[in-house]
Amino acid sequence: MLKTYYFTIFISFIFENGITFDKGALSGLPVQRLSTNVVRHVYQRTRGKITIIGVGGVFNADDAYEKITSGANLIEMVTGMIFEGPQVIGEINRGLVKLLKKDGFSSIEEAVGSRNPLKQV
Ligand SMILES: Cc1cc2nc3c(=O)[nH]c(=O)nc-3n(C[C@H](O)[C@H](O)[C@H](O)COP(=O)(O)O)c2cc1C
Repeated sequence: MLKTYYFTIFISFIFENGITFDKGALSGLPVQRLSTNVVRHVYQRTRGKITIIGVGGVFNADDAYEKITSGANLIEMVTGMIFEGPQVIGEINRGLVKLLKKDGFSSIEEAVGSRNPLKQV
């Protein structure tokens, strides 16, 4: 059975920078690039064999697509929902359909990791 790991930028930030919970944490745009890099790294290290949830700075379809093409199978968003409102989910879904078509994909699954090809080991 495929294990699902829940990576959040919260956790990676705490481990990498020694930030403790009492000081709070970052979300939204400041963590967008950092969290995508975590997705890219985990996708490479796990050879695309586990389910990755991309989270951190997703506000629109382009942001979601960047995480998917980096290796995320699922997208989670918190700050984007707060700033954009719940209708953003439908907008992202419609935007993703356009982006998939533009790249010649017929499913999200095909797009996962497509801009982060697995390096030879
Ligand atoms: C108000 C708030 C509460 C959160 N609570 C949790 C939590 O309980 N556990 C957790 O792992 N991450 C928590 N997070 C972190 C989010 O899951 C996410 O990793 C982070 O906000 C980056 O995504 P975003 O840019 O879409 O907000 C929380 C974030 C916010 C803004």
